[in-house]
Amino acid sequence: VLTCLVGSFADVPQDLLKEIQELECLFTIDTAKLKQITNRFQAELDKGLSVEGGSIPMNPTWVMSFPTGYETGTYLALDMGGTNLRVCQITLTEQKSEFDIIQSKYRMPEELKTGEADELWEYIADCLMQFLETHHGDTSKLEKLPLGFTFSYPATQNYVDAGILQRWTKGFDIAGVEGHNVVPMFEAALAARGVPIKLAALINDTTGTLIASAYTDTKMKIGCIFGTGCNAAYMEDCGSIPKLAHLNLPPDTPMAINCEWGAFDNEHQVLPRTPYDITIDKDSPRPGQQAFEKMIAGLYLGEIFRLVMVDLHDNHETHIFANQDISKLRKAYSLDSSFLSAIEEDPYENLSETFELFQNKLDITPSLPELELIRRTAELIGTRAARLSACGVAAISRKKSYNTCHVGADGSVFNKYPNFKARGALALREILDWPEKNDPKEDDPIEILAAEDGSGVGAALIAALTLQRVKNGNM
Ligand code: GLC
Repeated sequence: VLTCLVGSFADVPQDLLKEIQELECLFTIDTAKLKQITNRFQAELDKGLSVEGGSIPMNPTWVMSFPTGYETGTYLALDMGGTNLRVCQITLTEQKSEFDIIQSKYRMPEELKTGEADELWEYIADCLMQFLETHHGDTSKLEKLPLGFTFSYPATQNYVDAGILQRWTKGFDIAGVEGHNVVPMFEAALAARGVPIKLAALINDTTGTLIASAYTDTKMKIGCIFGTGCNAAYMEDCGSIPKLAHLNLPPDTPMAINCEWGAFDNEHQVLPRTPYDITIDKDSPRPGQQAFEKMIAGLYLGEIFRLVMVDLHDNHETHIFANQDISKLRKAYSLDSSFLSAIEEDPYENLSETFELFQNKLDITPSLPELELIRRTAELIGTRAARLSACGVAAISRKKSYNTCHVGADGSVFNKYPNFKARGALALREILDWPEKNDPKEDDPIEILAAEDGSGVGAALIAALTLQRVKNGNM
């Protein structure tokens, strides 16, 4: 049963109020539903570790220990994100948990995301070369530097320095990469240009976040990304990973698992999808994939909002923005999550900033009641994302019997979306039945905190841990 929240919209005409209430019904997820989702989530995490598998991939990463804080050495880190390509050089110093970092950011051209594989690898190799030339001058005499490559897509890893791309996510669609190990393609581009780099580890951003956060805070047990995509990693015992049983690893050996939880409920059993979520999926490059991610991640939040607005204009009796040209609003993916952030940040008195945003960006002049509807729609979409995210955190915590721990989170939605943290924390409290706080300043038993830099420091640490393991003669 959905509880509809009745807003306090004194000046909103009845028909618009009705629309708002319908949206509230569609997008609100009450405590009982959150709990139901979490139960299924936990079962699906188990299924992903089984030999048969499930829809959540639960990828072993071959990151097999937490850092001690005493790792040392100089490493390169490369992060192939959705918007930027970041290259860092990190020196882990003799001082416990201390490091020096230099970094450069390169724009990731939009057309590369759906272009040719060779162009992607060549562009990345060029950026790395440029970085080395800037910071080291003549690269011909440079000794090969070890690199941690943060490649944040689902990959099957049989080794820490290999990864077969399972499928592109987050709107990427480059032919000839899915089903292949990306490392040889990447290394071929480096070799062709003589870039003096040796890949030490291929890393998911969530694993990097987990390891970087644990470097400075030993209570950190889960690493999450709430950004363009949405995912988490945690440390499992090899003995609890049936799909690795054939390797006869000691049962108490730790193994970081990149959950790829964006794929949760691809079979549509429990998530309350709205018609807008169904459209997003249908029109995406990979329909049927990443069902959970498509309701939460930054890439989709603005698009969900846009679809609601267009639908209310075209198909509902209220016809919002009646007689206005909404052609700009019709452009798919033209509103990113920062657009929703800006709406939610508007101080509310007369929603003048939202008004200007609509005028300047979309050539639409909303009425005051329409502004109320816009604001409420943004709140509903943002709140739903935060509450659903909490289900994943609760499911891992329950599975691992973590009654108290820290969760390290990174990504644009976590860091920049207004109220995301507080809404997520409240949902976690509801799911896990925590009693009321005596003192508002009291910490929650499980706290989601801003993480350390996963794709920089985390990647360097994983490279260091890997090289150490190799030196010790372990796999
Ligand atoms: C997508 C990717 C995943 C990544 C997440 C956050 O879900 O598949 O690998 O961790 O986005 O960037």
